[in-house]
Amino acid sequence: SSSRTAALRGRFVTFTGNPFTMPPEDSLHVEEDGLILIENGKITQCGAYDTLRAHIPAGVNVTHYPDSLISAGFIDTHVHYPQLPVIASWGEQLLEWLQHYVFPTEAKFSNPEVAQTIARAFLQELLRNGTTTAAVYCTVHPESVTAFFQESEKLGTRMIAGKVLMDRNAPDTLRDTAQRGFDESQKLIDTWHGKGRQLYAVTPRFAITSTPEQLDCAGALFQSRDDLFMQTHLAENEDEIAFVKTLFPDRASYLDVYDKAGLVGPRAIFGHAIHLHEHDFQRCHDTECSLAHCPTSNLFLGSGAFRLFDAVDPRRPVHVGLGTDIGAGTSFSLLSTMGEAYKVSLMAGKQRLHAIQAFWLATAGAAKALHLENKIGTIAPGMEADLCVLDPSATPLLALRSRDCSSLADLLFVLMTLGDDRCIKATWVDGRMVYARADREA
Ligand code: GUN
Ligand code: ZN
Repeated sequence: SSSRTAALRGRFVTFTGNPFTMPPEDSLHVEEDGLILIENGKITQCGAYDTLRAHIPAGVNVTHYPDSLISAGFIDTHVHYPQLPVIASWGEQLLEWLQHYVFPTEAKFSNPEVAQTIARAFLQELLRNGTTTAAVYCTVHPESVTAFFQESEKLGTRMIAGKVLMDRNAPDTLRDTAQRGFDESQKLIDTWHGKGRQLYAVTPRFAITSTPEQLDCAGALFQSRDDLFMQTHLAENEDEIAFVKTLFPDRASYLDVYDKAGLVGPRAIFGHAIHLHEHDFQRCHDTECSLAHCPTSNLFLGSGAFRLFDAVDPRRPVHVGLGTDIGAGTSFSLLSTMGEAYKVSLMAGKQRLHAIQAFWLATAGAAKALHLENKIGTIAPGMEADLCVLDPSATPLLALRSRDCSSLADLLFVLMTLGDDRCIKATWVDGRMVYARADREA
């Protein structure tokens, strides 16, 4: 409703701890028959239906989700909205793939109508997949950012986004300059950062496409306010890493290129971070920056296997979230992304990702990585009412398989292994239902 006041009944799950530092089962709270009360877009109370039913405000209808699982909305910590049209483009590794598919598509976003159309389609796709917050790359054109935030504002979604900065090693039509990139970013920050639920991320694409001067400008912007985000790519691909070494021969590591420019700190999100050394992980820990693990993309481009359990090592844990990295990623679904993260962690270090750990990475853990854990990522009083409703029997196979689950962890594992957008029954944002799956034929 327009008052953003609602009541949801059903089984809900939410995190009360970190499953990487305690027995996973102890980190998750389950309410078998729960009630979530929402006023003005925020959760006011949640708990057992029987206890809380007396608190349902007069005139508020209860939306009942039997046989479902309600979770905090999923969070995608790394994704490119302008790349929606190039998802599933055949062949090649990172640098060739950027030249052949990505740059020609991104060039079209100087046109605000293209930007608006794709931004709309992209946000609808997020909601269809239960994703309620994302850290989003736009293109070098400020128009692409304006279009994205305008569409997000209409939906009431909490989004992080920014104008890509590129002043070298990219086609003419996709380049700015250090000064122009700075000025355009500044203007977008003034307009959008903190407007409603919108948040700005200073977005140098990566070290290859920014001069040292531009990285310094990005650092100055990032440091200019204490609540801004920064997003870029880090150590994704061997050829990329070799190129960065020739461009910045004096730096101790790829991370150090960003560090020397003032781009490493809280609210800095580094995509991929596959080929990191121990001293890089230590530096990430010390500075409280975050890594976005993008398993479907890393498999698709043959980039390598992110060492998740090294990253989150409790001796010097680094914040990690999951990213779909559309268009190199192959699914908008954080469920599918969790499923691939499970397989990748086996390849990278023979360690099994627990289903509860995977769900944490897509919700409460991601919120922590974004330093937004007081706003999103859990179901608790005071939190923003962004929720997704999962259907564990969305397909005949899922229905059959989930019937045999003897624990919630088993069920979550089945959902992340077999599930995708079909499992999203509904998505709520800011206390409003913004997506409901069309009911199947009886
Ligand atoms: N590195 C620099 N730009 C990109 C991009 O658009 N996608 C991916 N996967 N890696 C990048
Ligand atoms: Zn990316």
